[in-house]
Order: sequence, then structure tokens, then C-alpha cells
Amino acid sequence: MEVLTPKLSVRNLCKSYDNKIVLNNLSFDLMEGEFLSILGPSGCGKTTLLRILIGLEKADSGEILKSGTDISGLSSFDRGMGIVFQNYALFPNMTVLQNVQYALTLRKDTKKEAKNIAMHTLEQVGLLDQINKKPAQLSGGQQQRVAIARTLAMNPDIILLDEPISALDVTNREIMKAELKSLQKKFHATMLFITHDQEEAFFLSDRIMVMNSGNVEQLDTPHSIYQNPASDYVSSFVVDQLDKKY
Ligand SMILES: Nc1ncnc2c1ncn2[C@@H]1O[C@H](COP(=O)(O)OP(=O)(O)O)[C@@H](O)[C@H]1O
Ligand SMILES: [Mg+2]
Repeated sequence: MEVLTPKLSVRNLCKSYDNKIVLNNLSFDLMEGEFLSILGPSGCGKTTLLRILIGLEKADSGEILKSGTDISGLSSFDRGMGIVFQNYALFPNMTVLQNVQYALTLRKDTKKEAKNIAMHTLEQVGLLDQINKKPAQLSGGQQQRVAIARTLAMNPDIILLDEPISALDVTNREIMKAELKSLQKKFHATMLFITHDQEEAFFLSDRIMVMNSGNVEQLDTPHSIYQNPASDYVSSFVVDQLDKKY
């Protein structure tokens, strides 16, 4: 039988700030092409985890393996991961095209083709008619799409998304949810999606990791979590909340 090597393997990750444990011996695998959500309340350590994965923050202990190789020693630039931040982090003084193009011009292998790659990606996310606008001239949903295009254009092995749609209004949130799902199919992307929203996680994910103050409460398919919550915490934070909404 073929044994699949996870695209990303997190092993026994620990992180504390000022003696406060933020990540408590966290372990999980993300498989190739998988959409995995990390679902947990505000303050449970989700952003800290992403920042450690991408190399903006250092873990106290533990391992991060990408396709079986430890990447802890690599810079953010060399990890082959792209991140879409909660606040989009677009450059306000650059146009849409410049925003998507910028990082591509910094890489030797994409420098020459930067504009073509940027244009192609903007076409794929339906923004070709907006390329000369500045972020402030766009709607929240469009800004979000620019942020996603900027990440996709770099062709990362893994895309990390930190609550990317929670700042949008209800209508745009529904549109972006559907769009994220179709983008994942189109790009065959491996995605780690952070959210505090139960319904988002259930709609989008192949699997969900439920987090509670730095611990993994349960990691399973949405169906299994709903049918068999592993703890009282999962029952009340996930199942009861979903039942309340529907
Ligand atoms: N740089 C930091 N210094 C001190 N405490 C931090 C720092 N970053 C995060 N924390 C704390 O770690 C905990 C988890 O934060 P965070 O990872 O942002 O949670 P989440 O993204 O799930 O809301 C919070 O209590 C937060 O205050
Ligand atoms: Mg956060």
C-alpha cells in the first residue's frame, strides 16, 4: 500500500508568551490538495500558529515538515507558503496590478514574466477590469480577491488564510466563500484556512481542526465532527452553534 507523505506535518509545536502557553504541543497533518480549517475562538492561538508556519515567529519547540523535510531553518521567502492576511495587507499606494506584480519582480525566476503572471492571475480571479485602480477604490470583496490573487500568483505549495472573509459584509462573505471553494478546485491548492466561524469551516473544508486555548480538541471531517463531537467543548462550540443557526 502506498503511504502518502503529508504536504505539511506539524509535530509537537509549543509556544509561550511571557509564561502564557499559546500553543500546547500541537500536532496535525495537512495532505496534498486538502482544504483544512482551523476553527477556534478568538485568542486560542490560530494566528500565532500561522505566523510560526510561515516563519514570522519562532516556536519554542516542535517540528514543521514540508513534504517530509524540516523547514524550521528556512526564511519565510524560501518556505513555499503564501499567506492571505486578515486585513489583506495590500499596498495602498500601488494599483491592483502593481500589488500582484510586486513580489514576483523580487524573485529571480519570475522577474521577467512578472507582469504576464500577474495579469493572468488577475484574469483568473475576475479582476482584469480593475487593474489600474488603487485598493481604496475597490469594494471589500474585490480587495480580498486582490490579496488572494497576489498569493496565488506566487504559486505557493501551501496557501494559509487568516480569517480572510470575516471582515466582509454578509453578501460579500457568501460570494467569497463560494469563490474560495472554486479557486481551490481551479488551482488544486493545498489550503490551511483559519476561522472562528463554524459555518464557514463546515461549508469549505475537507477536514476541520477544532482548537481550544492552544490544544487540538478534534480533527476530522465536518460530518464526523457534527455526528461525533469528541468533547463537551466541541459539542458546545461547534455543534450547538451550528444547530442554533439552522
Ligand atoms: N507577540 C505577542 N506577545 C504576547 N502575546 C501574544 C503575542 N501574539 C499573540 N499573543 C497572545 O497569544 C494568544 C493567542 O493569540 P492569537 O494567536 O492571535 O489568537 P487567535 O488568532 O486565535 O485570535 C492571545 O492571548 C494573545 O494575546
Ligand atoms: Mg487571529
